[in-house]
Amino acid sequence: ADEGMWFLMFIERLNHRDMEKMGLQLTAEEIYSINHHSLKDAIVQFNGGCTAEIVSNTGLLLTNHHCGYNAIAELSTEEQNYLRDGFWAKDRSQEMKPKSLYVRFFVRMDDCTKRILSKVNDKMTEEERNKIIQREMSLIEKENNENGKYVVSVRPFFQGNEYYYFVYQDYTDVRLVGTPPESIGKFGGDTDNWEWPRQTGDFSMFRVYADKDGNPAQYSKENVPLKPKHHLPVSIKGIAEDDFAMILGYPGRTNRWMPAGGIKQNVSYAYPAWVEAAKTGMDQMKKYMDKDVSVRLAYASKYASTANYWKNRQGMINSLTKAQTAMTKEKEEKAFDNWANKKENKAVYGNVVSVINEYYKNTNLKARHDNYLMLMTRTSIYASASASLGAGLIQYAKENEAKRAEMLPKIKAFVEANYGTINEALEKDVLTAQLNLYAKKATEYGLSPLVAKMSKANNGDFTNDVTNALATSVLSSKAKIEAYLKNPDASKIENDPLLLISNDVLTRYREKSEKQILADDQFEKAYRKLVEGLRISGLNSIKYPDANSTLRLTYGKVRALPKDPRNDAKINNYTDMSSMVKKYKAGDAEFDLPSRLLDLNKAKDFGQYADKSGFMPVNFLTDNDITGGNSGSPVMNGKGELIGVAFDGNIEAMAGDVIFDKQLQRTICVDIRYVLWIIDKYAGAKNIIDEITIAR
Ligand code: ARG
Repeated sequence: ADEGMWFLMFIERLNHRDMEKMGLQLTAEEIYSINHHSLKDAIVQFNGGCTAEIVSNTGLLLTNHHCGYNAIAELSTEEQNYLRDGFWAKDRSQEMKPKSLYVRFFVRMDDCTKRILSKVNDKMTEEERNKIIQREMSLIEKENNENGKYVVSVRPFFQGNEYYYFVYQDYTDVRLVGTPPESIGKFGGDTDNWEWPRQTGDFSMFRVYADKDGNPAQYSKENVPLKPKHHLPVSIKGIAEDDFAMILGYPGRTNRWMPAGGIKQNVSYAYPAWVEAAKTGMDQMKKYMDKDVSVRLAYASKYASTANYWKNRQGMINSLTKAQTAMTKEKEEKAFDNWANKKENKAVYGNVVSVINEYYKNTNLKARHDNYLMLMTRTSIYASASASLGAGLIQYAKENEAKRAEMLPKIKAFVEANYGTINEALEKDVLTAQLNLYAKKATEYGLSPLVAKMSKANNGDFTNDVTNALATSVLSSKAKIEAYLKNPDASKIENDPLLLISNDVLTRYREKSEKQILADDQFEKAYRKLVEGLRISGLNSIKYPDANSTLRLTYGKVRALPKDPRNDAKINNYTDMSSMVKKYKAGDAEFDLPSRLLDLNKAKDFGQYADKSGFMPVNFLTDNDITGGNSGSPVMNGKGELIGVAFDGNIEAMAGDVIFDKQLQRTICVDIRYVLWIIDKYAGAKNIIDEITIAR
């Protein structure tokens, strides 16, 4: 229990007895069945990066507020600011379709390890190996997609020692149904992000639409709410320490097999650069977001995701250092190395540890350098988009009328998506600050050639260069780009300063020397052999594969952290509304609360949602094993009823993606009673409450 992100197809064999002992009342078939509807039919991957669950027979979806954030911000304007004020559709006609949002249902999965690995052997180069595997993967995908009805994805596990394929069905007509205001949905902001005790109403609601036969369909007024195979009933009976709790969802990435060298590289090189460059971009964005609501809406989502990983990476540095994770791994690798150099193992495993260590030693500076550039491109639209757009505009100028007409809608869509709502002054400052930082911090590895040359001339201060670049560039605003499209002329753009800078940094970020390619190949093979050897030798007994955005189940229980002066709840496994109101700061960007919520709290108008002992529950803790991507996942009791929505992890256990900490690691959940209270009492959205099945 607690540790483990399990495959649904193996729970019968690996987990079910254990789960039953802990309080599960469902059969394995009721959780995952290929032939009958089961719990898994109510779980979807939400827009590629989050999880959501179906909570009504009318396709109603529940996920996190931070998962719906992008869509909510996109649908908001200064006048109708749903991010700030919340939104509740009174009926279906008011539900709103964001530009692009899709959900993915899981149909089935199967093992294809034997088939794939029978095609390759250890004598092949990694390049040959990968080519053959790719080919086999595409065959498996074709064989199972039923003429395009399904999306099939074959993925490697255990570092390429096993392969499974997954069959999915995507729905693209997904509409916003309801969201609390940000002061509730993101209460505590970045100060409380990744922290417990917590009081965040991190949920939002959407609905899946289908054609009248229940099939996926492009948005259309004729579409109807999807009638799902299964939806989760909700339990408002409350939770107690040690109650069974399980989560199904799509954890994004863990690295539980990562070698010591990789951990040291992250702690000392990669993550510090990440933290510094993220903050550099955030500070520039924030200056402008604080001054102007429309800028804030345009950048809210980009800022939030940058801030989220900024804090996460700092938390990882701290907790990996504190837990001495690299040392634990070094010990394991030492034992492995002894085993690997026994006569019978030496030929295959003998050099694994030394290849791995050598590799990390040789890539430390590159890892640091690359993260400065990665964050530059994540925070600066000029750095990330100018190169490809510029190339497109040059080609556009050279084509004939017919071809241009064909290209135009695509270019326009790209421009709208990337430049439609940018703020030029903000972008200018972000790019300047990122270039200044990069030129100063990444010289040891070697700067991209143009930036190196400019930096020599400007002494590391790019202010004037960027100002001049913006003044003359065709790529600095939507208006200028559109003007160019009316009068395309390749000579006007071939030497465009933003295009040149963007090309320069992206080329540097992507380039790989022959030597590096070879080193990467050797490393990839050694890492695969390390994991294989650790499993064969029994030196590492992890039985579940690393997270890689495939559906997993994790089970454990409601579990407190040690008593904490910051939480005056009786047991430190929940928070209640009084602790939220204590944090309230009128007008604050992070800790404000709607007056209606404060009034309801004062009147103790909690209805049927109060805990037995009278308080109004807000968040609670379980010891489930989740990571980013699980956001929005259902937290269920032993009957498969919804008791909460997972939304965060705790900062003390940020090493968890590399090593699960049985003492510290927790999942932070919104109590479903708080979700229902917000919908019912705060928003008065009885129409939504009426759709939800409350288990009696
Ligand atoms: N830490 C959460 C996660 O990665 C995201 C929380 C978003 N909230 C926020 N205040 N930025 O899933």
